[in-house]
Amino acid sequence: MPGATKPAILLPAPVLPSAMEALDGQFTVYRLWENPAREALACVRGMAASTLAGPVGAGLFDQLPALEIVANFGVGYDNIDVAAAAARGIVVTNTPGVLDEEVADLTLGLLLATLRRLPQADAFVRAGHWEAGGFPLSPSLRGRQIGILGLGGIGKAIARRLEGFGVDIAYHGRTRQPGVAYRWHPTPVALAQACDVLIAIVPGGQATRHLVDGEVLAALGPQGVLINVARGSVVDEAALIEALQRGDILAAGLDVFEREPHVPQALRAMDNVVLLPHLGSASELTRRAMGALMVENLVRWFATGTPVTPVTPVAETPFG
Ligand code: NAP
Ligand code: 8YV
Repeated sequence: MPGATKPAILLPAPVLPSAMEALDGQFTVYRLWENPAREALACVRGMAASTLAGPVGAGLFDQLPALEIVANFGVGYDNIDVAAAAARGIVVTNTPGVLDEEVADLTLGLLLATLRRLPQADAFVRAGHWEAGGFPLSPSLRGRQIGILGLGGIGKAIARRLEGFGVDIAYHGRTRQPGVAYRWHPTPVALAQACDVLIAIVPGGQATRHLVDGEVLAALGPQGVLINVARGSVVDEAALIEALQRGDILAAGLDVFEREPHVPQALRAMDNVVLLPHLGSASELTRRAMGALMVENLVRWFATGTPVTPVTPVAETPFG
């Protein structure tokens, strides 16, 4: 409608430039780091949040009496207090689906890098050690049993890739999925007992906090490898460090950490871990797709009252 006022939205922190540009085109955008006036915040009807930009909850909602929707940049939304949002009638959306293949690619890369010790081998060549002799033989993916903790959109994309590697696949989720041929185990410990690679790709939050604890790691065994591409909160980091130091498990590949971007010195000093700075979806292509979906959720909400990918059901929020 010509002359119609654009809805006001708030950015708690900068987002991807392409998303920022799209938001600026569609909305009146207030940037929290520019300290907008209280009267401006009172008009804010939408928010573009990011998994990487810190928690969004009651404290912020209290400053935004007109807030209707929080659109998250990320499929995981454990950064948002969904219960507090629901209590105020605020809709929350996320970005499922558009990043599944990218995160699954990264997971396979991390798994192979961890088992075949690719970063260590790269460092070996760069340091000139090859001149003095070959790189030690590595563990192998061959003959391994892979356990996927969380067989959702991304877990299934990981499983599809693993099928091509000719390895056995099993999974744990709260419920056994009809029509899924992989073996289901009723607990994370049972899954770890049956496997020697455990890939965590469940949502974060209170319900999954330390789902991978010392008992699960012990069950994985001395040849066991943990790959965490879920959330740092899913793994008891102190128990993992102990398990790696004691040789309870063989190695770990970690994309996520309990206090990002802080990574414990004990992990950084270990030779049998591969550490990534939360890279799962971090390609230009996929981040653009996530940004576009986040913006589309806001646009559709204000145009039709029906966002594209609302987070449901609110009662099962993983907020922690
Ligand atoms: P999804 O499709 O919702 O799948 C989540 C899976 O986890 C479901 O199969 C669910 O099965 C299982 N699950 C949920 N709560 C559980 C619990 N308490 N115990 C055991 N299993 C549980 O989600 P997705 O799109 O695959 O994404 C999963 C998560 O990956 C995200 O929430 C995010 O935290 C993480 N992620 C990380 C990166 C990265 O950059 N490293 C990128 C994207 C996503 P049941 O319902 O049967 O339990
Ligand atoms: C991103 C993620 O790191 O989608 C998620 O849940 O963890 C990743 O894709 C994050 O969303 C960036 O904010």
